[in-house]
Amino acid sequence: MRVLVTGGAGFLGSHLCGRLLGEGHSVIALDNLFTGTKRNISALLGHRDFELIRHDVVNPILLEVDWIFNFACPASPVHYQNNPVKTVKTSVMGTLHMLGLAKRVGARILQASTSEVYGDPAVHPQTESYWGNVNPVGPRSCYDEGKRVAETLMTDYHQQNGVDTRIVRIFNTYGPRMTVGDGRVVSNFIVQALRGEPLTVYGDGSQTRSFCYVDDLVDGVMRLMAWEGDTCHDPVNVGCPVESTIAELVERIGRVMGRRLEVVRRPLPKDDPVRRCPDISRAERHLGWSPKVELDTGLAKTVAYFESVLKGGQGDGGEG
Ligand SMILES: NC(=O)c1ccc[n+]([C@@H]2O[C@H](COP(=O)([O-])OP(=O)(O)OC[C@H]3O[C@@H](n4cnc5c(N)ncnc54)[C@H](O)[C@@H]3O)[C@@H](O)[C@H]2O)c1
Repeated sequence: MRVLVTGGAGFLGSHLCGRLLGEGHSVIALDNLFTGTKRNISALLGHRDFELIRHDVVNPILLEVDWIFNFACPASPVHYQNNPVKTVKTSVMGTLHMLGLAKRVGARILQASTSEVYGDPAVHPQTESYWGNVNPVGPRSCYDEGKRVAETLMTDYHQQNGVDTRIVRIFNTYGPRMTVGDGRVVSNFIVQALRGEPLTVYGDGSQTRSFCYVDDLVDGVMRLMAWEGDTCHDPVNVGCPVESTIAELVERIGRVMGRRLEVVRRPLPKDDPVRRCPDISRAERHLGWSPKVELDTGLAKTVAYFESVLKGGQGDGGEG
């Protein structure tokens, strides 16, 4: 297959590109390098079937491809709140342009959506049939609502134009090639611990998250892209169904690193969800997918990655 990965120089996109090349596909990574870096794809740049195009998805582009993975969008609050209007444009115009391309060249397209479409959920765990509880005018809206419109566009292009669409709702994913200073909890904690700083815990640490290792996530995304069942165009949750409190995460990272970690408490940010956990029955039933990598194993790999990055090493995240 000739495959286009938008956001291909980012955290998830770079791992996806590596996996696709490993399976013998020809890959174009398209990225404006806002949060992505060439370092993330340094191991792929010399590959004869890999190409990086520096391009912003808010502008149209014409390429001959068979599959499109639309992953371009800053994913952490510090980045997507930096220019909220641009974030909305990236999700809405970027998805429109990729759908237009898919329609024109007859490509299958998979949209990277998010658990954020559930907002601060009133239902636990979240099933795909839950419509969510999202503030349309809050600090997270540019991201959450942008992704909700992207899902709407995918669904309407499928129904109106017969475009072959897939939608994955990604829950918190972690692993090598997350960015230092992106404000996500796993990278924050590990970097603070490696620098000998106290770990910043927002609220009392009893809020929960579920953490999926990047290799598991990429596997779920690949299975969804390949799925051709009756309901394959409807959204599918991919994430870890085991909830951990933030306080437990601190303990685990301490255990993996073999040290006692100090914490400093800060108030919970506005609209921060209190609980978030996927129901993955749909992914289990239709994709035969569930996460395999133990949290301690994934954390150890992520700690090793950040150790290398902070020492000024290549830190290209190896395996992808
Ligand atoms: N990592 C997670 O836990 C998570 C959870 C839910 C959803 N997602 C989704 O997965 C996708 C990838 O997230 P990530 O964690 O790899 O984030 P990331 O910031 O590492 O990757 C996003 C990539 O998109 C690129 N990009 C941003 N705006 C662009 C634009 N206008 N044009 C072209 N490229 C652009 C960035 O430079 C970067 O390489 C995003 O769509 C995100 O919303 C991620």
